[in-house]
Amino acid sequence: MTSRPAHTRRSLPEVLCAAPLAAFLLILIPIQTPQAPAGEESTPTYYRDVLPILEDHCQVCHRPGEIGPSPLVTYPQAGAMARLIAGVTSQRTMPPWFADQQFGRFANDPSLTPREIGILQAWANSKAPPGNPADAPPAPHWAEGWKISQPDVVFRMTKPVSIPPRGDVEYTYEIVHTGFAEGKWVQQCEIRPSSPENVHHAVVYIRPAGSSWLKNAPIGVPFTASDMTDEQDRRDTHMTTADILLVYAPGSSPDNWPDGMAKFIRAGSDLVFQMHYTTHGRAKIDQTSIGIVFAKTQPKQRVLTLQLTNDGFVIPPGVDNYRVEVHGSLPNDALLLSFFPHLHLRGKQFDYNILHPDGSIETLLRVHYNFYWQLSYRLAQPRMLKAGTILQAVALFDNSKNNPHNPDPNAAVYWGDQTYDEMMVGFFDVAVRADLDKMNYFIRESSPAMRRP
Ligand code: HEC
Repeated sequence: MTSRPAHTRRSLPEVLCAAPLAAFLLILIPIQTPQAPAGEESTPTYYRDVLPILEDHCQVCHRPGEIGPSPLVTYPQAGAMARLIAGVTSQRTMPPWFADQQFGRFANDPSLTPREIGILQAWANSKAPPGNPADAPPAPHWAEGWKISQPDVVFRMTKPVSIPPRGDVEYTYEIVHTGFAEGKWVQQCEIRPSSPENVHHAVVYIRPAGSSWLKNAPIGVPFTASDMTDEQDRRDTHMTTADILLVYAPGSSPDNWPDGMAKFIRAGSDLVFQMHYTTHGRAKIDQTSIGIVFAKTQPKQRVLTLQLTNDGFVIPPGVDNYRVEVHGSLPNDALLLSFFPHLHLRGKQFDYNILHPDGSIETLLRVHYNFYWQLSYRLAQPRMLKAGTILQAVALFDNSKNNPHNPDPNAAVYWGDQTYDEMMVGFFDVAVRADLDKMNYFIRESSPAMRRP
């Protein structure tokens, strides 16, 4: 996706892949014994003690229309599930979060404190009393369907896509004109599938006016690589230098940049939706939208999504801890904001490190990788990285029969689009000077000659 592969090993396009939103969780986090809230005499009640926790940590997914299977919004809903709630929270399988607590602090870490876990436990143990509705916290305000503020503009795929009941679906694209007469700074944005259970991932790219990328592709109708008669167009579906506006996968959070930072869409750009659909036994229709909130003031910094990619590996059959790494040096200063690791079903662990000149390795994030929960990890404190800083991504793969998700432990595994293939991409967001686009960012201003991995 990057055009000047300075610290990305290659220009790679199809960073995301194939597979269903599973109905189960891979539990990697040790069970922790919850403690009763210290010094709390009275039994916790739903309205006073439990509801605030559900509002802050659970309802983002567990409300009607969201991906959590059971709403946890009313007392009858939560009361009936008190035992289950106590169970999944004390095992730390809910809320979903996969960063190793040893490394880094993340602004979007939804994890409960031991005290909160204790409250849920004590509440369930005392038959889940409702308490007094007057103690309830103010109801949270969920914008109609959106997690971001009410969007200034919504672009919806013009034509709905028909998803067959079964089989692999080729990556499906749809191009939508923005009609922007001037450049726009994007402060918040969110992708919303209309059939979330069928959307394994979505990437929305920005295609600037005059770009030759997918130049013969139709506007406003779905198409795949196989529909392209022109050889270059066909290759273009798998290879692009275009900027990414946003990546979506189930459980991922929308973009919401702090004041002074935003992504930029040039006048006259198109948005290119790249959809990876999965099938679940029933024919479905999807028409995904992206909602955008513009920056209210002129930003000082521009946010870019970059990536560290290694597509040159072969994972031998049966190996349970196969290591793939990639590193490169930053061509210019950048403020590191967040991470989004991407592997497929054999993915086991993903680290982002800084390789310091003295030989030491500093781990910024370690994810106990779960393919079914692709999350972004936003640093609680953005980190200034000087030009020349060497950033490394390391993935571990489990291609053994002990990996319950492994589609074929006897296969040697290569890079590819489908989930039975593998990928190794470490996306990361940085803020750079407002006048730098991705191309210009990769022109080195001050740092010593580029180091190749
Ligand atoms: C990011 C979205 C998300 C958040 C946040 C979240 N859940 Fe879930 N939860 C899910 C999904 C999806 C499932 C379905 C099982 C799966 O895919 O793991 C689930 C399953 C469950 C289950 C299993 C029973 C069932 O309904 O299938 C319980 C209980 C549960 N969640 C409770 C909670 C509680 C309590 C919180 C907050 C402390 C929470 N969840 C936060 C998405 C979420």
